Amino acid sequence: MDTRVLFEDAAGFATPMLAVFAVDVATGKGADPLPALLTTSDAVTGAAQRALSSGEFKAGLGETLLLHAPAGVKADRLLVVGLGKVKNLSVNDIRKAAGAAVRAAKPRGIREVAIAFPEDRALSDEHLDALPCHLTARALTEGAEIAEPDWDTYRSERKDLSVHTLTILAPNGEKATDAEIEAGVAEGLIVAHAQNFARQLVNEPGNVLTPTVLGQRAKAMCDEVGLKCEVFSTDKLHELKMGAFWAVSQGSAEPPALIVMTYEPEGGVAEDAPVMGLVGKGITFDTGGISIKPAENMEKMKYDMAGSAAMIGAMRAIAELKPRVKVIGVVCSAENMPDGKAFKPGDVVTAMSGKTIEIINTDAEGRLVLADGLHYAKTLGCTHLIDAATLTGACVVALGYLNVGLFSNDEETWGKFQASVPVSGEQFWRLPCTDDYRKQIESQIGDIMNTGGRAGGAITAAMFLKEFAGETPWIHLDIAGCAWNEEAKPWLPKGPTGIAVRTIVEWVRSYSV
Ligand code: BES
Ligand code: MN
Ligand code: ZN
Repeated sequence: MDTRVLFEDAAGFATPMLAVFAVDVATGKGADPLPALLTTSDAVTGAAQRALSSGEFKAGLGETLLLHAPAGVKADRLLVVGLGKVKNLSVNDIRKAAGAAVRAAKPRGIREVAIAFPEDRALSDEHLDALPCHLTARALTEGAEIAEPDWDTYRSERKDLSVHTLTILAPNGEKATDAEIEAGVAEGLIVAHAQNFARQLVNEPGNVLTPTVLGQRAKAMCDEVGLKCEVFSTDKLHELKMGAFWAVSQGSAEPPALIVMTYEPEGGVAEDAPVMGLVGKGITFDTGGISIKPAENMEKMKYDMAGSAAMIGAMRAIAELKPRVKVIGVVCSAENMPDGKAFKPGDVVTAMSGKTIEIINTDAEGRLVLADGLHYAKTLGCTHLIDAATLTGACVVALGYLNVGLFSNDEETWGKFQASVPVSGEQFWRLPCTDDYRKQIESQIGDIMNTGGRAGGAITAAMFLKEFAGETPWIHLDIAGCAWNEEAKPWLPKGPTGIAVRTIVEWVRSYSV
């Protein structure tokens, strides 16, 4: 989508569809006022008045009302998009509503959409504070950009319903405000494109996106944005003694890929400056291995590389946003297959760190590749670690599809991550990983087992990873429930979500000096 911002009057702008936001200002007490349009244009307000008076449209989040030939407005159609209740209004509602506008245009074959930048007249100061210009512009752009793709990429007779142009119509205000809006849009484009890049990788089937191909895609992206990228395979795993990563890979005819992407700020940084390590689980297909998964829903396991896609996407945005902090992305990619050469329950393998691991279940493979990825990132000099992985079904049971499971061994690092959430609009819920859980993964024959029983499955998986993060400040994101959107939403199609890209990018930027 070609997205631009123009400082022009919305009513005077000729477009097939002009979208304008509305908030629900009803109090529930007595005669409820009609939804309020977030525009200062009398013409736009006038054009929608009659339809709004009907009371049919409640301005629920993502709810839309389409009017043809709106009187006094140059647009062919006026689309009113609900932001939900004015109480608790946030930029994340703008993100979703902008997405809903784009998704409303698509099935109608509308190629050009204009969105009126939300303006203040209807809002009190308190609600206005919730929509700072820069963040609003950014969220609006992101929401529209991530709503545009449809993930039917392999359909042979694909209907082209793409929206080609998005024009954000902002009031011609003060120079400073205009600059803020422009900067917000530019930032939003970078972040949303990175998120879409991650989604594109996750969407690919396992026969197309093997670990080798994932390495090639990462390399091509890095070349494009000027990141250093090295892609290693079997020999390097042996050289580094990555026994845990190799155990998972050894049963597949497809060789593994260890992808290392490096971002260095121009001019370098101080020697004692933080180095951020982004480690991703990149299982391009997870059959479960010898502890094979049931056939039902196994096809979903092509998305078992969503953690690595998030990291590759985040690296892309970081290369373009250029924070003043060094970042290293490490992706551990393999295919988990049952085979004569596959690893087996009962095997004992030695991780790169020297710890021995008793394999209880070959389906608990993500933590094995990450164990070596986390340790390796430390040897590369990372002072702060974050990993993302579609790690456990248990996390989906615990938190459903709405919150990513978050674990951390360091309060300050977690605090900085938490502070990035209002900007990104993604949802995380912290779960414990205190040392008293460790006995669940103690092994009789070796140091630790790769599973910890049924109780607290997401937690024991995190405990396993914590063992390899050691003393290094670390965050673990279990994205199993949030990486794939099972049901289309008004603002997001069914399919890969690109979850965690936005927050990881923001968290990394918070370390910029
Ligand atoms: N990739 C799966 C986890 C998963 C499940 C992701 C559902 C997305 C949706 C992971 O490798 C796995 O199989 N985990 C096992 C661990 C168990 C054997 C301890 C699980 O969750 O069942
Ligand atoms: Mn598995
Ligand atoms: Zn897996």
